[in-house]
Order: sequence, then structure tokens, then C-alpha cells
Amino acid sequence: MACSSFKPACLPDLVGSEPELEEILSRPMPETVKAVSRLGGDILILGVSGKIGPTLARLVKRAVDEGGLNKRVIGVSRFSTPGLREELEKIGVETFSCDLLEEEEVERLPEASNVIYMVGRKFGTQEDSSLTWAVNTYIPAIVSRRFKKSRIVVFSTGNVYPLVPVSSGGADESTPPDPVGEYAQSCLGRERIFEYFSRKYGLKTLLLRLNYAIDLRYGVLLDVARKVFEGLPIDLRMGYVNVIWQGDVNNIAVRSLELCSSPPEVINVTGSETVSVRWLAEKFGAIFGKKPVFKNSETGNALLSNASKCFRIFGPPTVTLDRMIKWVAHWVLIGGRTFNKPTHFEVVNGRF
Ligand SMILES: NC(=O)c1ccc[n+]([C@@H]2O[C@H](COP(=O)([O-])OP(=O)(O)OC[C@H]3O[C@@H](n4cnc5c(N)ncnc54)[C@H](OP(=O)(O)O)[C@@H]3O)[C@@H](O)[C@H]2O)c1
Repeated sequence: MACSSFKPACLPDLVGSEPELEEILSRPMPETVKAVSRLGGDILILGVSGKIGPTLARLVKRAVDEGGLNKRVIGVSRFSTPGLREELEKIGVETFSCDLLEEEEVERLPEASNVIYMVGRKFGTQEDSSLTWAVNTYIPAIVSRRFKKSRIVVFSTGNVYPLVPVSSGGADESTPPDPVGEYAQSCLGRERIFEYFSRKYGLKTLLLRLNYAIDLRYGVLLDVARKVFEGLPIDLRMGYVNVIWQGDVNNIAVRSLELCSSPPEVINVTGSETVSVRWLAEKFGAIFGKKPVFKNSETGNALLSNASKCFRIFGPPTVTLDRMIKWVAHWVLIGGRTFNKPTHFEVVNGRF
């Protein structure tokens, strides 16, 4: 029998190809299959073609198939990445190309009782901040009105919190938002618009404040590993980070559909460690046999979240930091494909 659970024995020592990576990132946990089978109606993913969406769509489709369920899985975005739409269609995910800024196009989307909202704009905010505000706050208004009878899990970000002392263990859900810079402010705007419509219409919503999903093709670990490998300097001003395996994020997002409420539930989603960037670079350095180069130094504050509520509800992440480091290092060594989309986690002034 194929080994496909999240038990450590079922996770490979190393990941050697994109199909293998995609398979791990889209593995539904048994709890996820059960949650999907309890949900009435179809599942619509808005913003399906970004860095996380394709793996989430695959996972939902696998959960539907494993549960023997009769549910449509529908992915929506403008599909600006060539080939992705066809790949999703091939595995049975229906796709709709739609510019969500255009209300008439949104009106034409199919009904679905369950919506996972992954739309966002971060990079380019400095050059065109009005577009960032439109995407991050106006689309939520259009979507809230269009899907007011659905439950909506919204991908938000830990960037809505202020930088906190490293010794604090991170901001928890009771920490008042105080976003740094326009991108992060617009993300708080996204949350507030969903909250407004949740209170106005009784729309059942849940806000997932995510800090750094880890894939092997992008993410903070890849950013640090590549710099060490290429001998480039690593900026230590954002000296500490939180990370979580993207497969864990995907399972949490789907299971969260059952917890949507009015007013919205809020859950921080990240790993349990406060990870030192210096320590991380030295770990990669030891694997590559290279001495990391640093610039600037730690400030004592960083963008950090405390995800204990998430662990209490869903259990701890299944892929450990050690395993992620090993997988990422190997991916760099074998020249695995990357998205060429750095996270810019080192930015401390909020300008993206
Ligand atoms: N990845 C992380 O580590 C991370 C960390 C914290 C928070 N998050 C949050 O999680 C969400 C998903 O993350 P991600 O990394 O997958 O984001 P991403 O790569 O930026 O993807 C954003 C998605 O939004 C779609 N989109 C943007 N404008 C649109 C429009 N006008 N109409 C339709 N679709 C539109 C994009 O597709 P098209 O361009 O093809 O339309 C894409 O599918 C983001 O909103 C982000 O705030 C992610």
C-alpha cells in the first residue's frame, strides 16, 4: 500500500522531484477528509493560481475523492500563470477565469456553500499602492456581497501585527493589530471589510493570519538557503521568523471551514519555533560546507506570531523544522525548480 499519511515514517527523507513535492503538499489528513464530508455543498477557491492555491485545490480534490463525495471543487483567478488552468482541469478541479475586481464577472461565478479566499497583492505596492488597496479591500467587499450565504475562510497575514520583542513568543490573536506599511495596512483592511459584512449579513467567516508557508520552490527557508549557497549577504535586521509547512497550512485552511462564524473567528497559523535567521543560515552553511555572510544585526524586535490557539484546535504541525531544512537544502543542491519569487521577509519598514 502506498505510504501517504503524515506519520514521519510516511514522509520521505528527501524530496527529489516536483511531482513528489506536489503530492506531499496536497495530502489531506484523515481529519480533513472527515471535515470535507461533513460540509454541505461545493468548494470554491478564489485566488487559486498563486503560490499556495494550486496545492490547496489538489488537496481539496483528493479529500473529496478519498471521501467518495459528490462535490464540485472550483478554482477561480485570472490564471496569469500559463498552463496552470489545464493542470487543475486535468485532476478534476473546475476552473473559471475571472477578474474579481469586475463585479459583473463575479456575478457569473457559480454558487458554493464553501469559499476559501486566497486573493491578494503584496509586491508592487510601492509602485502602485492604489491597486494593492483595491485588490486587498475592494475585492473582499465584492466577494462578501456575492457570497453572503456561504462560509468563507480568508487567508490573512501575520503582517497585521506590529513587530514584537523576540522574547515575547510572538503576537497572539488578542494583540491589537498595528500594521507597518501600506501593504500590511491594506491586509488589515481586507480583514475589516470581511468583518464588516460578517456583522452586517451574518456572513460566516474565519480569518487565518498566516506567517510564511514553506514550499521548496519559494519561502523563507529557500531564500536563506540560496543566499548561503551563493555566498550572498543575509540581512539580519528581521532576525527571527516563524514558518510552517504549506501542506499543514492547506489542511488547516480546509478544516477551518467548519469553524466560520459571525463575527469572524481569528486564528494565527504558523510553526511553533521562533526561528533565528542567523541559526538557520548556519545550519544551511554546515550542510553546504559554506560560511554564511551576514549584514546588519538583529534588533530585538521581529514580525512574530504565537500559534498556540491553532495547535490547540488542529494539533501541532506534522512536518518539523528540521525536516523542512533538510528538504530545502537538498532541493537547492539538486537545482530544483523555484518560482523565483523571494519573500522579502527581511523588510522591516513594511515597504514592498
Ligand atoms: N505564501 C505565504 O507564505 C503567505 C504568507 C502570509 C499570508 N499569505 C496570504 O495568503 C494568500 C495566498 O498566498 P499566496 O502566496 O498563494 O498569494 P499569491 O501568490 O500572491 O496569490 C494571489 C492570488 O490572487 C489572484 N488574484 C490577484 N488579483 C486578482 C484579481 N483581480 N482577480 C482574480 N484573482 C486575482 C492571483 O491570480 P492571478 O494573478 O492569476 O489572477 C493569485 O491566484 C495571500 O492573499 C496572502 O495574503 C501568504
